[in-house]
Amino acid sequence: MAPLNAMIANGAKRAAYSAGQAARVLWYTGHYAYGRRLMGPLTDPGEAPYAEEFGPLDRTRLKTAFRELFQRDWKNVEAGSYKMPVELRRTPSFSKLWRESRDYLLDARKVAQRKYARAHSEVLTDAMREKYPRYYLQNFHYQTDGWLSDASAARYDMQVETLFTGSAAAMRRQALPFVGEALKGRDAGAASLLDLGCGGGGFLADIHDNWPMLRLTALDLSPAYLGRARTALGGVRDVTFVQQPAENTRLPDASFDIITSVYLFHELPPKVRSDVAAEIARLLKPGGVYVHTDTIQYGDEPGFDILLENFPRGFHEPYYDSYCRADLPALFGEAGLKKSDETLAFLTKITSFRKLA
Ligand SMILES: C[S@@+](CC[C@H](N)C(=O)[O-])C[C@H]1O[C@@H](n2cnc3c(N)ncnc32)[C@H](O)[C@@H]1O
Repeated sequence: MAPLNAMIANGAKRAAYSAGQAARVLWYTGHYAYGRRLMGPLTDPGEAPYAEEFGPLDRTRLKTAFRELFQRDWKNVEAGSYKMPVELRRTPSFSKLWRESRDYLLDARKVAQRKYARAHSEVLTDAMREKYPRYYLQNFHYQTDGWLSDASAARYDMQVETLFTGSAAAMRRQALPFVGEALKGRDAGAASLLDLGCGGGGFLADIHDNWPMLRLTALDLSPAYLGRARTALGGVRDVTFVQQPAENTRLPDASFDIITSVYLFHELPPKVRSDVAAEIARLLKPGGVYVHTDTIQYGDEPGFDILLENFPRGFHEPYYDSYCRADLPALFGEAGLKKSDETLAFLTKITSFRKLA
């Protein structure tokens, strides 16, 4: 009887997962369609089309990879690699969804106007120059206020989920088994993890949900995004918040067992990427693990290369193309980190590196 009960419970859990994800995909795809229409074609009227370096988009593979992501996400939940995601465990708050939707749709017009005007330097003021590096002071993705306001921080997750039609959280979660692997055979209560460019803290909240004893440090250069992370991690006892650049954290040498970063590196100029790699190597304990999560790169999924080529044309992403061409094992290898594992998760790639003992 017990196995039958377990099968029924698993079936119910799977049905809840599928229904929840289907609703999310529908919700964000609707917003994506609206935003896409506002943003219009990549080139302005009369402008010559871009010379394309890569072949056409493989739409069949795109749909398959999207489906595979959710199949894998479910398999990980079923196998206990991580818990059922919080957003699928709780009944959604309709007033929150309504607020986020309204805010996103109203702001999408401003983003589109900025795109048509190629306006990506609104946050570059003399006052800001004194506080932040020059490369940071841009309206990345043509977003309102760049990284530098509470409104931007509050809107960010909705924007990212919409961009990826509801798959962003599932892609991020594919980094969790890498954290699990790094903790294998260890006491999580005695281990420490730093998330660089933590944004609103969603990834750290997932980590805490799965390994509540782990000591966490959340680092971001934006006080607004860090403030958001503070709220997301409000119930967490052992967490430290650091507002510093990832390339110069001012944290002590060899102070972390695990370091993670999610969607940070493609926002950094090449020189800063090398500086952050060196900083990660400095901060990791010997034998420590770095879990690197970011966009896929050219050649990872050849049928998607045209997406990578077009993305920085439609959105302000000045360092994206060079990131997609970067040699990651060489970048981190020069800093003293050795590649140990890698996986693709739809449009995201997760790579782990170990600091040589
Ligand atoms: C694309 S968002 C990613 C946020 C989050 N990790 C996620 O998974 O969605 C990039 C984040 O990195 C932060 N950031 C960018 N450059 C940084 C730097 N040099 N040092 C620290 N944080 C940085 C931004 O403020 C922003 O919160």
